Amino acid sequence: MKGILLAGGTGSRLYPLTQVASKQLQPVYDKPMVYYPLTVLIASGIREICLISTPHDLPRFQQLLGDGSRWGVCIEYQEQQEAAGIAQAFLIAEAFIGGEDVALILGDNIFFGGDAFPRAVAEFTSGATIFAYHVSDPERYGVVEFGAEGQALSLEEKPAAPKSNFAVPGVYLYDHDVVEIARGLSPSARGELEITDVNREYLRQGRLRVVRLSRGTAWLDAGTSSSLHEASAYVQTIEKRQGMKLGCPEEAALRRGFLSLAAFEALVAAMPNCEYHDYLHDLAAEVRRVGLTSA
Ligand code: DAU
Repeated sequence: MKGILLAGGTGSRLYPLTQVASKQLQPVYDKPMVYYPLTVLIASGIREICLISTPHDLPRFQQLLGDGSRWGVCIEYQEQQEAAGIAQAFLIAEAFIGGEDVALILGDNIFFGGDAFPRAVAEFTSGATIFAYHVSDPERYGVVEFGAEGQALSLEEKPAAPKSNFAVPGVYLYDHDVVEIARGLSPSARGELEITDVNREYLRQGRLRVVRLSRGTAWLDAGTSSSLHEASAYVQTIEKRQGMKLGCPEEAALRRGFLSLAAFEALVAAMPNCEYHDYLHDLAAEVRRVGLTSA
């Protein structure tokens, strides 16, 4: 399965922070926001990645992430001229997708814990797989309604009167039909090609799987100044307590076998002296001693 990382948009809710660097380049505690969704893709075993952003911000992502080879992945870049909707990503990345299955992750969605994504990628055969997460404010998201047997009944984008508390987070898995489905969409009232309309079409065809994320998974929002601050505080708290980093693509690449231990050590040796370096250096030493543990 290939992966699209969508990191465009205006980031207007974070103004003036986003005047120079886009939302997904802002720090979430000790690393840029985009590291977190990138780590989800790598940890899910996805090696071919297309990052989509605005013409203004794309060069900065290229500067930050390069071609991905240092993590044993391949990252290519595509421009989205205007924020015409999340589903436009499939039209922009049509050549990249090239008839394969594809995962889409939003560059401002931050997840920790659980193995729902790697498992869903491994289990994926066809159709679409989306996720559902219990939240207190479903009206801010795509919302899925479940029937008595746990089957998905309906999907609505930011409903004024949500039919459930289950929001749809920004990770989606599709077969290659998604390109044709996206091509058939019309812009919504807010002028966007809606990802919820793509999911609705798969639901209509009876080919939508909805996986409920357990309470052991954290899904954080970093779209406003205060939620960005809270996300940073959360990462700091967990990292300090556990002595393990969240959203670390180097570590995910090592654990996934995308990097040999020797390549990992060379990568770490080239980093400047900093806490991030020390963490990865200690991790390499531990792996040399006891091998990769399941942490
Ligand atoms: O976060 C999950 C939610 O994301 C879902 O529950 C909703 O169903 C889905 O529509 C979306 O909701 P938002 O309307 O809040 O998404 P937003 O416009 O904030 O865009 C999400 C990210 O995607 C953001 O980092 C910017 C980027 N984006 C968005 C659009 C519309 C693009 O790169 N290009 C775009 O055209």
